Amino acid sequence: MKEPITISITGAAGHIGYALLFRIASGSVFGADQPVNLRLIEIEPALPALHGVVMELDDCAFPLLREVVATADLDEGFAGANWALLVGSVPRKAGMERSDLLGINGRIFTGQGQAIAKNAAKNIRVLVVGNPCNTNALIAKNNAAGVPSDRFFAMTRLDENRAKSQLAFKAGVHASDVTNLCIWGNHSSTQYPDFTNAKINGKPATDVISDHDWLKGEFISTVQQRGAAIIKARGASSAASAANAAIDTVKSLIQPTADGDWFSVAVCSDGSYGIEKGLIASMPIRTKSDGSWEVVQGVPVDDFSREKIDASVAELIEERDAVKDLIPS
Ligand code: NAI
Repeated sequence: MKEPITISITGAAGHIGYALLFRIASGSVFGADQPVNLRLIEIEPALPALHGVVMELDDCAFPLLREVVATADLDEGFAGANWALLVGSVPRKAGMERSDLLGINGRIFTGQGQAIAKNAAKNIRVLVVGNPCNTNALIAKNNAAGVPSDRFFAMTRLDENRAKSQLAFKAGVHASDVTNLCIWGNHSSTQYPDFTNAKINGKPATDVISDHDWLKGEFISTVQQRGAAIIKARGASSAASAANAAIDTVKSLIQPTADGDWFSVAVCSDGSYGIEKGLIASMPIRTKSDGSWEVVQGVPVDDFSREKIDASVAELIEERDAVKDLIPS
């Protein structure tokens, strides 16, 4: 049996946490031969609820689950972490400006970035789910002195999965027949689901789907607005599908990507595709056989795509500028 790995999860008593923990503990993320330790991090008022979740984890008697720690202490929570899944954040409330939200959540991610740098394992990888996830990841990265920037990710996989399903419905195929779907930019309503390079059963999506007005219009807006549509329908934000996307992201980052394909996750830009260096922006990524990842180069960007990507990147720059006080120079 392998040595256990340690996964730290913030917001563990929340809705996404509840949909996420049990799948990790069951072995469906890191593999059926990989024991896991869970370090579950919450704010003090949520600790009683978190203890209830821990009782349920105990009651599953998962063969692969080793130590479970529930804490509000960041040093304890990130001790020895190989993965940090940063899910917890404060939701936007009525009357709150986006800049207020950026500031409130930004302060959470400065402390978490510092605690990760101080306590986590050398091979730590950090996936930020809590919104605004790109900018939260930027803040965490810039406050985690000594942790390489290629260890920080923000989640756009839910958007990719949503886009694949929409294309599949339109084409009358299964979502797994859709590949090469890149979400560019920010995880927000400016994100760009790139249909121009998507493939359906290996053929360009633009050949399989002849309704190009739909691709350029309704398809994009449906994906961009899907989160809001779910809140309207369910009365609560997407949690199970978000947890599923977090799992997909981790798996895509630990398993080699199929030849010719890519997946979406926001990473620290190296300037590829004209995206300002240092921003945490979503782009096409592939995982190599040695476990490292790279930005897929040479993906065609036409004028339509360029405009959409630039608009989303402009929003990321605005967000970064709004939290500049939280980013050490
Ligand atoms: P939730 O409100 O049910 O749970 C959030 C949890 O975070 C709460 O238990 C809360 O106590 C905890 N929390 C707040 N501040 C914390 C801190 N400083 N440290 C540790 N825990 C803290 O929310 P839910 O539905 O689980 O969503 C979590 C986040 O994920 C939200 O920001 C949401 O917007 C975001 N999200 C992101 C998606 C993406 O695609 N990137 C998709 C769906 C949701």
